[in-house]
Amino acid sequence: MSKKHIGESFISGKGITREFGYGDNKILAVNNVDFDFHRGEIISVVGESGSGKTTLAKMILGLLGVSRGEIFFKGKPRDISTQAKRREYWQHIQAIFQDPFSTYNIFNKVDDVLLDCLRLKGGGNLPSNEKFERMRYACQFVNLKFEELTNKYPFELSGGQMQRLMIARIFMLQPEVLIADEPTSMIDACSRATILDMLLKLRDEIDMTIVFITHDIGLAYYISDSVYIMEHGVVVERGTADEAILHPKSDYTKRLLGDVPKIYEPWDFTEAAHAS
Ligand SMILES: Nc1ncnc2c1ncn2[C@@H]1O[C@H](COP(=O)(O)OP(=O)(O)O)[C@@H](O)[C@H]1O
Ligand SMILES: [Mg+2]
Repeated sequence: MSKKHIGESFISGKGITREFGYGDNKILAVNNVDFDFHRGEIISVVGESGSGKTTLAKMILGLLGVSRGEIFFKGKPRDISTQAKRREYWQHIQAIFQDPFSTYNIFNKVDDVLLDCLRLKGGGNLPSNEKFERMRYACQFVNLKFEELTNKYPFELSGGQMQRLMIARIFMLQPEVLIADEPTSMIDACSRATILDMLLKLRDEIDMTIVFITHDIGLAYYISDSVYIMEHGVVVERGTADEAILHPKSDYTKRLLGDVPKIYEPWDFTEAAHAS
């Protein structure tokens, strides 16, 4: 389904490892992971709960330190050693998290959430009617009515509205890389399709790289150019969607696919299959 053109390597990692705890309680949440994400590419990171997906995402975002390994951004070792450098980095890479309520400061009204995006993009000094115009436009993109949201706090919105607001934020920020950590897990199937649609539309419009984190291997197959499959912190399978899911090498992937046999059984269009 995806497959636009895919550009140069944009963000990559070598030997990325993250430990938690000490001694007997030590956990290797992410263990020696290599990755390479390209401009305009849609990547899925698939794994069961606890396999290290969110930890990996947080390290890529620079929200969590790396125990070992190095992350490269546009070919150079990433440097986020100061607050100014981190802010600069976040102009390029942004995230949508599983729980939208954790993304917002609960004391910030919706207007402030969007105004903050304008400021991050250097639009803090625009005339206020221009600011409102841009916020309204971003809300329109995700089918939200800005007028209905102004003066509300994030907790006054429904889960679906919150998810849309997060995408409106991304629309305003236009990051080159978006990490979406199970963004659709809180909403119903119908809104889920809409959210996916919006993300894919954004990818096409601004050539965004999307790293989609999910435990849904069927979804990963349909939307991705590349797939990484994680088990206990280790990437056990990596390749194009066809390679990783239609021709998996690891037993783990085969076992995951056992739950969704429809993906790799070709549709049977013969008359016999339908004659009943
Ligand atoms: N802050 C933390 N402190 C201790 N252990 C953690 C922390 N964050 C994650 N873990 C552990 O790391 C492992 C991977 O977690 P996580 O990255 O959240 O997995 P996933 O997102 O795939 O469900 C789990 O065993 C989890 O309990
Ligand atoms: Mg997670």
